[in-house]
Amino acid sequence: MAIYLDSAKLDEARQVRELGWVYGVTTNPSLMAKAGVEPEVVLKGLAELEFHHVYYQIVSNNLDDMLIEARQVSEIVKSGLILKIAPTQNGFRFVAKHGNEFPCCVTAIFDPAQALVAREAGARCIAVYVNRATKQLGDGLALVGDLAKVLAGSRTEILAASLKSTKEAVDAFLAGAQHITVPFDLLASLSTHPLSTQIIEQFNSDGAGIRLKSR
Ligand code: G3P
Repeated sequence: MAIYLDSAKLDEARQVRELGWVYGVTTNPSLMAKAGVEPEVVLKGLAELEFHHVYYQIVSNNLDDMLIEARQVSEIVKSGLILKIAPTQNGFRFVAKHGNEFPCCVTAIFDPAQALVAREAGARCIAVYVNRATKQLGDGLALVGDLAKVLAGSRTEILAASLKSTKEAVDAFLAGAQHITVPFDLLASLSTHPLSTQIIEQFNSDGAGIRLKSR
């Protein structure tokens, strides 16, 4: 299980790196466009932060260019790179052909049939857009459950994305996702609860504990 930041903003990545429990960063072309700097700069900055994994989405469409793009990215992110690949004919061909060299996450999965193909192609994981699926298909969490059944016993894991609340993030795990990726604000709110804050204020006010010898 791992929790990721879904962002291409380096200031956000730097802040979550300090938290110590965020496993990596996931990006996509839209997030890259919002970052305000060139994707090469984003990738270099993320590589310097030494997360366990950095996800980059290939934007080339033909196999030869996809491979060139993958190699260029792997020159920048030398360890922990996972390539997000669109679920197209060429995307699945890329995963089947190059998935051993480049761990791949087939992204934007909206149907268990696509997960079956990703599994057979040897994908390391699939990314499912939970909230978008709920809005457009009816029940994104049920989709995660079906994907988990389809992938049971395989090495292909589920990364749940497009999560809009702490409840949706937790429910995605409960439905069978191994990993979640969430935007910066939601990531911060995962670790807090008003009742925790309230009782900790009480503890701080009562305040009995050992005396520190030195700093
Ligand atoms: O990683 C996928 C995510 O960025 C899409 O989220 O909120 O645009 O559905 P959203």
